[in-house]
Amino acid sequence: MPVPLFELNLQNKANHNALLAAFERVVEHGQFILGPEVAAFEGDLIRRVGVGNAIGVSSGTDALLLSLMALDVGPGDEVLCPSFTFFATAGCISRLGAEPVFVDVLADSFNLDVADAATKVSGRTKVIMPVHLYGQAADMDGVLELARTHKLKVVEDCAQALGAKWKGQEVGSMGDFGAFSFFPTKNLGGFGDGGVLLTNDDDLAEKARVLRVHGSKPKYFHKTVGGNFRLDALQAALLGVKLGNLEQLLGQRRGNATQYLERLEAESRLKDNVILPSEGPDCWHTWNQFTIRVPGGRRDDLREFLQEKGIASEIYYPLSLHQQECFKNLTKRSCPVSEQLSGECLSLPIYPELTLDMLDEVVSAIVGFF
Ligand SMILES: Cc1ncc(COP(=O)(O)O)c(C=O)c1O
Repeated sequence: MPVPLFELNLQNKANHNALLAAFERVVEHGQFILGPEVAAFEGDLIRRVGVGNAIGVSSGTDALLLSLMALDVGPGDEVLCPSFTFFATAGCISRLGAEPVFVDVLADSFNLDVADAATKVSGRTKVIMPVHLYGQAADMDGVLELARTHKLKVVEDCAQALGAKWKGQEVGSMGDFGAFSFFPTKNLGGFGDGGVLLTNDDDLAEKARVLRVHGSKPKYFHKTVGGNFRLDALQAALLGVKLGNLEQLLGQRRGNATQYLERLEAESRLKDNVILPSEGPDCWHTWNQFTIRVPGGRRDDLREFLQEKGIASEIYYPLSLHQQECFKNLTKRSCPVSEQLSGECLSLPIYPELTLDMLDEVVSAIVGFF
């Protein structure tokens, strides 16, 4: 039985009528830019996450970029971020002329190693950007403490982790900003690109709202240079429908993770060959990805073996950011764990609608390989 990495349209089929109704509503009223749809969706997110402000934006990347612009990050500034993450995290720092300073990660959580971050703080460090990778919170106690000590701003990259919690607190509600993505494969998947920026700081929220529309306030008067970072009204209307299913979707992801863990842990043949992911004691994991580690140089062979059986998997991410060509001129920062993980990680299908039969198929194929 073929097992894809995602089946995005299954969730949309379940909401077919409500989505069409939202589409028709927007077509009827014709307010396609910001307006009531974006405001309503922002309000829903404010209530869902428990923050003061939400600013709907064009993508998760733009949410990160806008947060750094609102914090006046620019040339001469350094921003700490993990080396083991999606490119956008660091790309946004460089695009503003600041320098990403790459921090290593912890092998068991794949998330920022605060002890390593502490060694990389300098007089120029302005912001620390923890990433809640694969849907699980980074050590926010450590991040917030480091930020307090060195007077750093905190931007949480929550692109993969809407709904995740650290000690019961929602990700995106603890830093100065939380940046989220609605890329179709994320916990709340949209119909194209979209994102949101959350913050409890009203002044920062106002600054980000103005930057979202070219720095214009009032209209056509610009004290500052922003961009077009708006979330489409149509996108907001459709996302608003799907937000109602978020708890159910997260529950299904968590259920799939439990099934994988039970089955894979029971296979003695995997003991020395596969390292399983886990939920940290302070975390409520949303399992946007279920990522195993395959040490001993056999990851790519396993992936090929699964592919031959029609089972999709993905490598997030095959090259750490500090090793990327575009960053070759930056000061070399050592991130050995990140490099190791890039050679070992393999993400398995864990989308909410994955059936138990499919999950069993993935497990037996992995067992069959070893
Ligand atoms: C960790 C991380 N940061 C940022 C982004 C950027 O989000 P988007 O694709 O919506 O621009 C992503 C999404 O792929 C991501 O996984």
